[in-house]
Amino acid sequence: MKARPITTVKTVVTGIEEAGAGTKLFTLADPDQWDLPPFKPGAHIDLHLPNGLVRTYSLCNEPADNARYVIAVKREAEGRGGSRALHDDVGVGDVIGVSLPRGGLEPDARVARYVFVAGGIGVTPFLSMARHFQRTAQADVTLHLVVREEMPLAAHLSSLIEAGTVVVHRTSREGRPDLAELVGDPNPETMVGCCGPESMIEDFERVTAAWPAARVHVERFVAPPPIIDPDAKPFTLSLARSGGEIHVRAGQTMLAALKEGGIDIATSCCGGICGACKVGWIEGKPVHRDRVLSPYERERYLMVCVAGSDSERLVLDL
Ligand code: FES
Repeated sequence: MKARPITTVKTVVTGIEEAGAGTKLFTLADPDQWDLPPFKPGAHIDLHLPNGLVRTYSLCNEPADNARYVIAVKREAEGRGGSRALHDDVGVGDVIGVSLPRGGLEPDARVARYVFVAGGIGVTPFLSMARHFQRTAQADVTLHLVVREEMPLAAHLSSLIEAGTVVVHRTSREGRPDLAELVGDPNPETMVGCCGPESMIEDFERVTAAWPAARVHVERFVAPPPIIDPDAKPFTLSLARSGGEIHVRAGQTMLAALKEGGIDIATSCCGGICGACKVGWIEGKPVHRDRVLSPYERERYLMVCVAGSDSERLVLDL
């Protein structure tokens, strides 16, 4: 019989720091001070909050520092409740379950230069990457941080600003920077990335449309509205490992159908951007609607919160 994979790790909050611009830094560590599961620069984890919410945050420390996970959380008064719960209800000593780290950027020896554009708190995944690349001197990194006026994590960015790695653009003084100018022309030795509000990501995707997909990295923290397919048809999920069958009604998500069938799937964003609900598929024709899987990953995986099916039967590795 196969062992059930570990999906969450118990951590304890060992530090909370005010980090400016409505942001707090939370440090999570193993209760017995063991190293935590390793991660790539800019990876993210799901936090299973005491109120039952599951929320995804980027790690802003670097992989060499894996005795702890550090996340920066901006309190969003009008958000979905995760940041309010962390800011208002979580204290040092509280226990929080976290998922294994996912995503991030695998350092690529063919890349000589990284150019990142971040809006406000979107700086967090790139902070981890910038620190990693700066320490290992593997590549030249420029991180353009666009803020209205006050900068989050100012104390943690100061050495990177002094070194010229982080360039701050204050829109209240100089207007919005021209992203095409910041990113430059497509170059096979340059990787470009963006994390920030949706309008910034849309501009970034427009100015990098001619770049090879493998050299463009986008991190979203707000899921786009769900895609409603008026022509959606019902289909059947065959579960290869358990031998069961689940029927998905027209317009129903695979996730909802699996949950109705008693199958427990980890979720966070429910909008195809976080990677929590990734499931392997074996046969059929999935319709991928996520913003997180690469074309290569889509050959083997789908995100059950948003994917549909173009075939009457889809075989999942469940
Ligand atoms: S729950 Fe986030 S991608 Fe499905």
